[in-house]
Amino acid sequence: MRKTILVTGGTGTLGRVVVQRLLDAGREVRVLSRRPRPASHLPHEWVTGDLRTGAGTDAAVSGVDTIVHCATTLGRKDVVVTRRLAEAALRHGTPHLVYISIAGIEQVPLPYYRSKLEAERVVVDSGLPWTILRTTQFHDLVAKMTEVQRFSPVIAVLAGVSFQPIDVREVADRLAELALGAPAGRVPDMGGPEIRSHRDLARAVLRATGRRRLLLPLRLPGATFAGYRSGGHLIPGRAVGRITFDEFLAGR
Ligand SMILES: NC(=O)c1ccc[n+]([C@@H]2O[C@H](COP(=O)([O-])OP(=O)(O)OC[C@H]3O[C@@H](n4cnc5c(N)ncnc54)[C@H](OP(=O)(O)O)[C@@H]3O)[C@@H](O)[C@H]2O)c1
Repeated sequence: MRKTILVTGGTGTLGRVVVQRLLDAGREVRVLSRRPRPASHLPHEWVTGDLRTGAGTDAAVSGVDTIVHCATTLGRKDVVVTRRLAEAALRHGTPHLVYISIAGIEQVPLPYYRSKLEAERVVVDSGLPWTILRTTQFHDLVAKMTEVQRFSPVIAVLAGVSFQPIDVREVADRLAELALGAPAGRVPDMGGPEIRSHRDLARAVLRATGRRRLLLPLRLPGATFAGYRSGGHLIPGRAVGRITFDEFLAGR
């Protein structure tokens, strides 16, 4: 009998699309969230918990055969959170653990990327069957980098930095496919269809939202920004996404 699939971070940008894809495939889905269960009818199960404290984690992993781990604290705590999840999962069986990570995390020494790298190791060493998919930045994130500055008369952009953003719907398609398949280890990375300068991407957001702003290119010091400038986070050989940034903006 097929069991339930747990999606951590099933309320997030990526996770909520993954949940929908798995439901569309006819699977029973459970979401773990720190929020209380919404009052409205849900087509899936809901467990309120917190992977940082471990609250609700055992209830979330109980009786599942697959876990798609999309939750992120956006910081160092991702290692603890992933370890807590993997240890709880192992107490309840040997579910397939599917993890979403980021392309080029060895090349760019951003503390968040360091924690993703360490969390990947936790997955690999967990004793669970596993699959890891790395992708480039989502369109949503790249758009947000401009949109958070909307009240400023000038928009800061990273000088000399390009991005290869990918559509979260395509990442969710692949992640759901991986979750429904056998454990595959580290699978080929997924990058967006185009590499464009940050300045160009910011201009596209301004155009799409009908705003006029001056762009202020900033050349930031430090190894992290040098890593971005040298394109460590880009994967031109894996430009497999098809939905462009402009198409994403037009569709919102
Ligand atoms: N964004 C990108 O450009 C990008 C690119 C490549 C890979 N990724 C990876 O994709 C994954 C999802 O990213 P996203 O942008 O979709 O994230 P997001 O929108 O920020 O969502 C984060 C999710 O994590 C959950 N969460 C946070 N802290 C938690 C905790 N302590 N316990 C349980 N759940 C917790 C949140 O759920 P509640 O608030 O409901 O608790 C939320 O659903 C991350 O692992 C990220 O590293 C992202």
